[in-house]
Amino acid sequence: MSNPGPAVPRTVADNPSDPHDREVMLKEVLEGLRRHQKELSSKYLYDAVGSALFEDITRLSEYYPTRTERALLERWMPEWVELERPAALVELGAGSAEKSRVVLDEMERLDAGNLYVPVDVSGDFLHETAGRLREEYDSLIVRPAVADITEPLTLPGKLPEPAWFALLGSTIGNFDTPQATRLLCRIVGQMRAGDRFLMGVDLRPGPNKSQERLEAAYDDAAGVTAEFNLNVLTVLNRELGSDFDPQGFQHEAPYVPEASRVEMHLRATSPKNVHFHGADEDIVFVTGETIRTEISCKYNRTAIDGIFSDAGLTVERWVQDDDGLFALILARRA
Ligand code: SAH
Ligand code: AVI
Repeated sequence: MSNPGPAVPRTVADNPSDPHDREVMLKEVLEGLRRHQKELSSKYLYDAVGSALFEDITRLSEYYPTRTERALLERWMPEWVELERPAALVELGAGSAEKSRVVLDEMERLDAGNLYVPVDVSGDFLHETAGRLREEYDSLIVRPAVADITEPLTLPGKLPEPAWFALLGSTIGNFDTPQATRLLCRIVGQMRAGDRFLMGVDLRPGPNKSQERLEAAYDDAAGVTAEFNLNVLTVLNRELGSDFDPQGFQHEAPYVPEASRVEMHLRATSPKNVHFHGADEDIVFVTGETIRTEISCKYNRTAIDGIFSDAGLTVERWVQDDDGLFALILARRA
């Protein structure tokens, strides 16, 4: 498990030392918490502690997505990288870039290209990742960009061609369909004809994937996902001077079949009034009321084809594991 470590500014959008950024975050958070279904952007899960907790999640036996995607990358990257010879890899929501190394290794082995642009909202964690990669790869040029990928994309400099844009780990699932389509449209807006888009997606329950298995991935026995979810309240307390008591909330993560998604919630175990520094009115919770802290959409080929077609992408390759847990996709501009 992770140590909390010192309080650090977490994103470009909510550095508390900048009163303007704090105001922006406060407005967005209060707007979400005043809705009928209280809601927070899942980007607030990722301060330095949250990013480290997510790494812990990726190593849990219940959390199959990471190891399944890694196996698919190891199986297919030698062939796909040899065929396409990417000169650069731009990765959105890069995190620790653990699996990205499978792509970078092939780029290095085949002498295809040596530019890596990891983009992430979790600034300190991203810079640590960049530092580690520079130590591990002698000739890799690493240009990290701290940015919110729901905003227009500004990349550092002109990319060599062809470039690969990657969105791994089923991070697309943390956005609803309109948001996901907008995100993909922005990526397509940066892509040239020879560029490719590499994406990993978690699949819907099927013959060899039960709903129970899916739900266990978001509610592990050791309680790491619960800790990851509850940490968002500590983030709000630190960044916005709110007075949430994390002990007064419980982690839940049901699969909602009608929406084909897991929803992470924090349920209030008693009535409470939560005050935010500088806000006129408290946020009021009745017993049992929840905050939705994350959605994690699950896909099939039809759903992906629909989103891709709206965003201007065409699937070139679709591969998945034998149990139909997870899919890896290579796409081009339509
Ligand atoms: N790609 C990695 C990490 C996935 S976790 C993997 O496959 O394991 C999701 C990552 O996206 C985190 O590193 C988080 O900080 C980042 N992230 C979440 N919301 C974001 C946003 N709005 N803008 C940029 N990065 C975001
Ligand atoms: C990063 N993202 C795709 C993860 C997911 O599975 O939705 C985040 C996560 N939430 C709980 N566990 C993992």
